Amino acid sequence: MASFTRIEEGETPSITIHPSHKIAKINDNIYGGFTEHMGRCIYGGIYDPGNPLSDENGFRKDVIDAFKDLNVPVVRYPGGNFVATYHWLDGVGPREKRPGRPELAWIGTESNEFGTDEFMKWCEVVGTEPYLCLNFGTGTLDEALGWLEYCNSDRNSYYANLRRKNGREEPYNVKYWALGNECWGPWQVAQLTKEDYAKQAYQWAKALKLLDPTITLILCGETGYSSWDYYVLNQCVKWDVHGLAGDKTKSLIDMHSIHIYTADKQHLPNATAPRAAERAIQMTAALIDLARIENHVPETVPRPTICFDEWNVWDPERAPGEAGAEETYTLSDALAVAVFLNAFVRQARDVGMANVAQSVNVISPLMTTERGLVKQTIWWPLWLFARFMRGASVVVNVRAEEYTGRTNPKWIRNTIETPFLDVSAAVSDDGWVNLAVANVSEDKDYNVDLVGVESRGDVEVYTVGGENVNVVNTEEEQNVGVEESKWDGKGKFRFGKHSFTMLRWRE
Ligand code: AHR
Repeated sequence: MASFTRIEEGETPSITIHPSHKIAKINDNIYGGFTEHMGRCIYGGIYDPGNPLSDENGFRKDVIDAFKDLNVPVVRYPGGNFVATYHWLDGVGPREKRPGRPELAWIGTESNEFGTDEFMKWCEVVGTEPYLCLNFGTGTLDEALGWLEYCNSDRNSYYANLRRKNGREEPYNVKYWALGNECWGPWQVAQLTKEDYAKQAYQWAKALKLLDPTITLILCGETGYSSWDYYVLNQCVKWDVHGLAGDKTKSLIDMHSIHIYTADKQHLPNATAPRAAERAIQMTAALIDLARIENHVPETVPRPTICFDEWNVWDPERAPGEAGAEETYTLSDALAVAVFLNAFVRQARDVGMANVAQSVNVISPLMTTERGLVKQTIWWPLWLFARFMRGASVVVNVRAEEYTGRTNPKWIRNTIETPFLDVSAAVSDDGWVNLAVANVSEDKDYNVDLVGVESRGDVEVYTVGGENVNVVNTEEEQNVGVEESKWDGKGKFRFGKHSFTMLRWRE
């Protein structure tokens, strides 16, 4: 949590950190990834057989190293919109027998060369947990149950035996399962009304938990502040359902998914746009509470958390989905990503998972070429957060000037503030205080009083910046990276214009 006091030009900004005022544990899963059968994310991204940079499985080793470097705890698969026509059985068993199918989300042909077992293997190599999304478009409940049995069952039953036949004896024990993706969207194959979705999700959830009560089920929400979100939460956040047998320690639905992409052609509306995501988290949390109140859910039943399983900067006109959505990110976008991540840390109590969309090539911090890997501008704040912003989210008070111009979306104005200094703080389990500060101003450095950090000796400083907000990283030129330095912790600290800074010191 950060409280904000707006100051006038000329006044001295300050950031007050309270390392002992812990708010909530930051769930490591906020650094989750997402790999969809879309553009070059799977084929040519994580899976690139024949390329000298790939291993014996066809997995790109440079991509694996980058995932490890980021310590990605969980990866969502296989979509996204793709999943609405995906039949998982097409993607298991001998490769030469797998059927090619028309792919209707991004209009192509899916070879099914890469499927469930390949994804599970890849997760094991990376050291990450799989998160599977079920087909609520053309899929059936039978098919969904079959996939769950294939992945998680140790019975002597058909799909568990099919997995064994395909070479995998032990169950994969996939914990996270999503009840569809963006089922509300007009672009979906088999778009649903909220009434139809809620009915289907409730019935599928019951059946899936009867087969495997240990799984975490994720309801398909919209933005977190729509009538869809209100309705589906109200219909599905229940505990006294058949199968749970009135167990006051279990919920049918464990998480509620929301998606928000932001973008604007101008820097300040672009960099402040993720404030909408923070407000969305607050509104979703309120809707979750409301559903529990209206459905008389006992307080002993765990409260569902938010699964922000698609977030990033994306302008679909600039980088259309059908063309692979290969965004080239600017420094302005990197600052927007820092604001997103600050929001997840500040709202740690309610965010159980967040997945950058996507992890490779498609609207992504990482871009593969035939020859190697490009780390885009947005990689660097993500890398610093994933490396350091773990443990507990702690209270910070920010006194700073506020951006008062146009916002995107418009409703940000008057619902949540847009400070020039966007701040979050965390204390790691091994006693480091980490302070993340995005100075989104295009033309102003700020000399800031850091209250709570004085006389601490050497403070580690990591800065992400660049000549101007429009610079990008490409294969040819790397304009944005991380600079490391030290600060003696005395006097004011200067946060340079259009930069992101991480400060670290011992508690
Ligand atoms: O991440 C790209 C697409 O954006 C996903 O497939 C979809 O869920 C969203 O609309």
